[in-house]
Amino acid sequence: MKRRLKKWIYAIGSRVAVKKLERVIREIENTETEKLADGAFLEAKIRQIGLRHDGRGLYGDDGRDMNFLAPGLWQIPGQLAGAMALLARHRIASFLEVGTADGFTFSFMAACLLRLNPGLKATTIDINPNPASSSRIAFAAPVEFVVGKTSDAFAERVFDLVFIDGNHSYEWVVRDYQNVGRQARVCMFHDINDQLCGEQSVPRFWKELKVAESGRADFHEFLFHSSSDKVMGIGIRIR
Ligand SMILES: C[S@@+](CC[C@H](N)C(=O)[O-])C[C@H]1O[C@@H](n2cnc3c(N)ncnc32)[C@H](O)[C@@H]1O
Repeated sequence: MKRRLKKWIYAIGSRVAVKKLERVIREIENTETEKLADGAFLEAKIRQIGLRHDGRGLYGDDGRDMNFLAPGLWQIPGQLAGAMALLARHRIASFLEVGTADGFTFSFMAACLLRLNPGLKATTIDINPNPASSSRIAFAAPVEFVVGKTSDAFAERVFDLVFIDGNHSYEWVVRDYQNVGRQARVCMFHDINDQLCGEQSVPRFWKELKVAESGRADFHEFLFHSSSDKVMGIGIRIR
């Protein structure tokens, strides 16, 4: 497909996807809080927003919920829904995501967490700008999209929840964990079971963390994939 045509389709798709995201956020703001601990409800909302276009076919059957040539959540719906249902059982007053990309996962998570924890402070950081403009959506409380920074800039800060999904190399996962994950009561990792990332990246760090903090923390894993492929996978460490 010609580059200009692709860009044009992306611009239109982007607008449609941001509208879907905004609609779901408004719905979450008015939903009963019990629903935000219900995996089936959360999964339906994730599907309603749609997944980020990814031509590698990694979503399996969930590919039917992919936004064509458009932004979205870069997630397996069942994995994120399970993780969010678990987070709903914990008091979270501050949240940092490392690795914004389109900002759809952050926006969805921030909306759910804000509904459950009024006054929540939510921040997402990325070294690159977010072209999908989910950052322009109005939230019930201010949320912060920080561009051009890594976790190095937040090394002194303590967050209740940190979601590490930035640079997936082993060295950077260690660095993000040292900077912001270690001191967080709840630390969530993306791609703990991802064959494309490679065993020596996030999967290696997650395995080591389970050994290093064994007996001092609870570890939860969300690995569902429609074809049982090793794709993405979410790990949550709770103290
Ligand atoms: C896999 S994507 C994040 C996906 C997003 N969390 C989601 O679920 O849709 C990784 C993002 O991390 C950003 N990134 C890469 N290295 C980074 C670093 N050292 N610090 C912060 N962000 C980084 C990239 O620009 C990219 O947007």
